Amino acid sequence: MSQHLANPVPPAKSAPSFSIGNVIIPGRLALAPMAGFSNTAYRVLARRYGASLTTTEMVSARALAVGNEKTRRLLDRADDETPAAAQVFGNDPESLSESTRIVADLGFQIVDVNMGCPVPKITSGGAGCALMNQPADAARVMERMVRSSPIPVTVKIRAGWSDAHKNAPEVARALESAGVAALTVHGRTREQLYTGRADRRLIAEVKSNVHIPVFGNGDVDSPAEALDMFQSTGVDGIAIARGALGRPWIFQQIEAMLAGAQPPAQPSPAEIGGLLLELMEGVVTLYGETTGMRMMRRLAADFSRGVPGGARFREGCVRVCTREGLISLTRAHFHFEGDVPPSPVPPPKDGPLPLPEPGGG
Ligand SMILES: Cc1cc2nc3c(=O)[nH]c(=O)nc-3n(C[C@H](O)[C@H](O)[C@H](O)COP(=O)(O)O)c2cc1C
Repeated sequence: MSQHLANPVPPAKSAPSFSIGNVIIPGRLALAPMAGFSNTAYRVLARRYGASLTTTEMVSARALAVGNEKTRRLLDRADDETPAAAQVFGNDPESLSESTRIVADLGFQIVDVNMGCPVPKITSGGAGCALMNQPADAARVMERMVRSSPIPVTVKIRAGWSDAHKNAPEVARALESAGVAALTVHGRTREQLYTGRADRRLIAEVKSNVHIPVFGNGDVDSPAEALDMFQSTGVDGIAIARGALGRPWIFQQIEAMLAGAQPPAQPSPAEIGGLLLELMEGVVTLYGETTGMRMMRRLAADFSRGVPGGARFREGCVRVCTREGLISLTRAHFHFEGDVPPSPVPPPKDGPLPLPEPGGG
């Protein structure tokens, strides 16, 4: 088996580690949360290639606080996934505070609050990005959460609500005063959703306004983009979302570049096929074959970017609904001939996980 699959070169750490509260982050690259995509199996692969911090998909703090079992089970974590953050959303101080204890009991080192979610179902209730419209209220809620939390509280924000209201620097100062231990800034407004480009000038402004660690986020999909994010903003770390979809090795490429080495080439199609099937085994182990294969259609398609015949593979993915079907498709398109790798994660203790809820940030 190739070195990429069995034993990726340990990433050369590009900078001394830094701390979020009392938690040491051993490198500068994080996998950003992506509902429906950044499941435990995907996070394990990202860590293997050098992601130093991983975050779960977002879950409702209120549902956690009232003991909703399905929501608690969405906060799945690999035993060796550390440091790891669990992401919650909400605006009610009581349930947010209560969620910190639950998250800590589940073994996470950090609890992250989603103040960037643009989804109307979330913002109409005053949570997600809507919290950025009331910086003083958001800070009060976070102060209470920080006071009751056994672990550091971090927050993920956007640039602001709209072009006319890019208040991330003001929100960042308020959150720092409330005791928040680190921030991730997605440099788009709520109105932009995922269009246009993330505003790195604004991310730089946030960084220069606070003393806590800041992760820059938005549009980093190559070593060159990562370098630009670091150089143009001065951030402590970078959180990568879409750029890591189907390409967990991007962390290794960026780490190499930051260490002054030649970034390793993209794995060969056969190696990529093996990784895809390893992820499939993980997702099926976590969610069962029916739900897992539904999730894998989109996840598998991402691995075919830049691979010859990718468009045909993606057409096949739309129809594939069994594990065997995806194995055949992958063998044919990626010329993968080896054994299907074992799942990178063990089966969950209480049976298949529930389907993650749609989210965003
Ligand atoms: C499908 C999808 C799901 C997402 N889910 C979440 C989420 O649950 N929580 C969150 O804070 N951000 C979420 N995001 C936002 C990303 O974390 C990130 O902020 C955004 O995609 C910009 O970064 P990128 O350019 O590296 O993709 C999601 C993004 C996508 C594309």
